[in-house]
Amino acid sequence: MDNQSELLLNWYDRNARDLAWRVAPADRRRGLRPDPYRVWLSEVMLQQTTVAAVDRYFRRFTALWPTVSDLASAEDAAVKGEWAGLGYYARARNLLKCARAVVAGHQGIFPASRAALMQLPGIGPYTAAAIAAIAFDQPETVVDGNVERVMARFFAVDTPLPAAKPELMRLAALLTPQERAGDYAQAVMDLGATICTPRSPSCGLCPWSARCLARERGITADLPRKAPKKPKPTRIGTAYVARRDDGAWLLERRPAKGLLGGMLGWPGCGGLDRAEDHPPIEADWRRLPAEVRHTFTHFHLRLNVLVAEVRGKAEPRKGAFLDAKDFRPSDLPTVMRKVFDVASSEVAKD
Ligand code: ADE
Repeated sequence: MDNQSELLLNWYDRNARDLAWRVAPADRRRGLRPDPYRVWLSEVMLQQTTVAAVDRYFRRFTALWPTVSDLASAEDAAVKGEWAGLGYYARARNLLKCARAVVAGHQGIFPASRAALMQLPGIGPYTAAAIAAIAFDQPETVVDGNVERVMARFFAVDTPLPAAKPELMRLAALLTPQERAGDYAQAVMDLGATICTPRSPSCGLCPWSARCLARERGITADLPRKAPKKPKPTRIGTAYVARRDDGAWLLERRPAKGLLGGMLGWPGCGGLDRAEDHPPIEADWRRLPAEVRHTFTHFHLRLNVLVAEVRGKAEPRKGAFLDAKDFRPSDLPTVMRKVFDVASSEVAKD
């Protein structure tokens, strides 16, 4: 098995992706390691979206908050605002909780062991293993979706996901080396992301192809098998976009807990929660012909958009007016920004 990790590390030395949060293999060999804060931040972000999309967020966060202590003392709203667009806002809340726990309980220094890392808010088994391996070179096994695919193919695992997860973890652990654990963890992820891709893998370039069982059996394209997914339900809701004659927008901060917790949004999005669809303010509401569609983890949402212009004195039943100068569409979560995009030109027409 050692031979496999050596083959992969040699491949990684030549092919490692250049990522903002990464220390290149040549520098790691000289003893450099990445800042655990940056590893943690990048891993939390990467659970949300792709490497390409994370780059911009990672650079922005680390420019604004270069250390975990800086992040810990940031305003909640500022962090949530910067997180907007990354989705799954519970993660932004947990991000702050974790930064504050590292400062309050660990003098601002991330612990090095997987077990201690797992005690921190929002750090699960994957993230703990990734930080322990990448930032501290602990020989932990790091298994994300890419790594699952690599293992399923290399060992020709026929069990469908997600049932195969424990087996894939066990097999991945067999290959994990004691030395260069951080580079190895990132190498398997890079292999999955760039060579052992879901469709048309580049087996001709793969350092593991000689002993890959899926390749030997000609079943690479069939693996990993996946249990059929339950179809996502579709919910229908309404978004009310009111603009006051001085340009202020009627917005509502969502409850701290639950979907898009603590984020700004348009009042009355029925399909998003149990809120009824009463207009948030007395006005002459017009329904726009276009609806907004957005897909969350567990459901599709279709939102009817209603717009209105309101007079200066009208009192909202829900939400509060935000002055035009304080309103930045980029502070809104994606679904709310989609609503703004279809509504803003319509409401301005009045
Ligand atoms: N995906 C998640 N974490 C990663 C990392 N450190 N390198 C490459 N891909 C990743």
